[in-house]
Amino acid sequence: MQIHFNDLLYALSLALDYVESELTGVKPFHAERVAYITVLLGRAYGLADSVLLSLAAAAVLHDNSLTECISLRWQPRSEQSLMNARPKDFPAALRSHCFIGEKNLQVFSFYPSIRNAVLYHHENADGSGPFHLHSADTPLLAQLIHMAHLLDEHFILNQATIEMPPINSWLRRHTDHFFTRDLAAAISSLFPTLSPEDLTDINIRQQLQKLLPHSIHEYPLTEIQNVAVLFAHIIDYKSHLTCTHSADIAQKAEQLGHYLKQDPETCTKFYLAGALHDIGKLTIARTILEKPDRLTKKEYTIVKRHALASWQILKPITELPDVVEWAAFHHEKLNGTGYPFGKNAAQLSVNARLLCCIDIYQALIEARPYKKVMPHNQVIRMMRAMVRNGEIDGPLTEAINKCFLHQ
Ligand SMILES: [Fe+2]
Ligand SMILES: [Fe+2]
Ligand SMILES: [Fe+2]
Ligand SMILES: [Fe+2]
Repeated sequence: MQIHFNDLLYALSLALDYVESELTGVKPFHAERVAYITVLLGRAYGLADSVLLSLAAAAVLHDNSLTECISLRWQPRSEQSLMNARPKDFPAALRSHCFIGEKNLQVFSFYPSIRNAVLYHHENADGSGPFHLHSADTPLLAQLIHMAHLLDEHFILNQATIEMPPINSWLRRHTDHFFTRDLAAAISSLFPTLSPEDLTDINIRQQLQKLLPHSIHEYPLTEIQNVAVLFAHIIDYKSHLTCTHSADIAQKAEQLGHYLKQDPETCTKFYLAGALHDIGKLTIARTILEKPDRLTKKEYTIVKRHALASWQILKPITELPDVVEWAAFHHEKLNGTGYPFGKNAAQLSVNARLLCCIDIYQALIEARPYKKVMPHNQVIRMMRAMVRNGEIDGPLTEAINKCFLHQ
């Protein structure tokens, strides 16, 4: 598939920012600012562009395990308070956060060049981090991500102002504790050369793209599928009530694609669209997504906003406009009663209708707190009623009936 791999990750990392923001209050585009600062630091240390490209991918994904850790019942106070704690107080959960985040990246082809960068991204220079590694034993790439994360967490870098006196005094205060003298000196020389506008929410992605070689390559479908699997899990871990929804939809959309004799690339795109369709749910508070009862009208209105949020997160992936459309239109109906745009039959491609039908099928067969698992035949009866009502596609409903009859 022809794609700029890092661009795909940058776009999706915005969803990770919502998760990290809900937990620790980081600002939007945190992941991309961390990547930007990390790459600039890496360049100051003389790293080659090929390594920097992988480092940028690791940096935008540095906190990829947060929803998975929440699902393991980790309720952090904040990363900052964890870092101020004495070594013996570090919860094992912070180690899990690093360990799982590292493990999730091992499937990617860029992994060998960033090995251990995420595993040790919370290590402090004095050995007071979660794995008690001193700076001499911590990989440089991990130290760079750690420094960039701390800076973006402590300072408001997204509002076109960089005030050096407070940054310098913070660097002096924490030298030899959080980071090495050498790294503090690198930041002191780097920051005065930055244009503050480059770090703003509106500019950061473009600046990050400009920093590194930016060409489109043919990527193996398995590599794209690995991104889809990672994000499907990140989305699904957000709510244990729908804990395999995205992964199941990805798998069923791909399976239906094969059943309909679509080519392998289109089937992978179905997988990707299925995995990402509910990415906007990462913007919705967990208290609502995890509510064990039926939602109130107001709460339902809030949940419905996830479809627009999916569209906003995915639309910058300009190389895959079809995937973006299929994913973001999954709540649109042929008779115009869907959301977020109220599109009609003429505006909904067959493949967009496919994602909508699979989403309905999967939601109906899944158990929810207010409903039990529904058998296939009953689901198909309900979907045929929706076809008669002009909401969803008839031939696709019949294809779903045949394709999943014996599952
Ligand atoms: Fe982290
Ligand atoms: Fe972070
Ligand atoms: Fe949805
Ligand atoms: Fe869904």
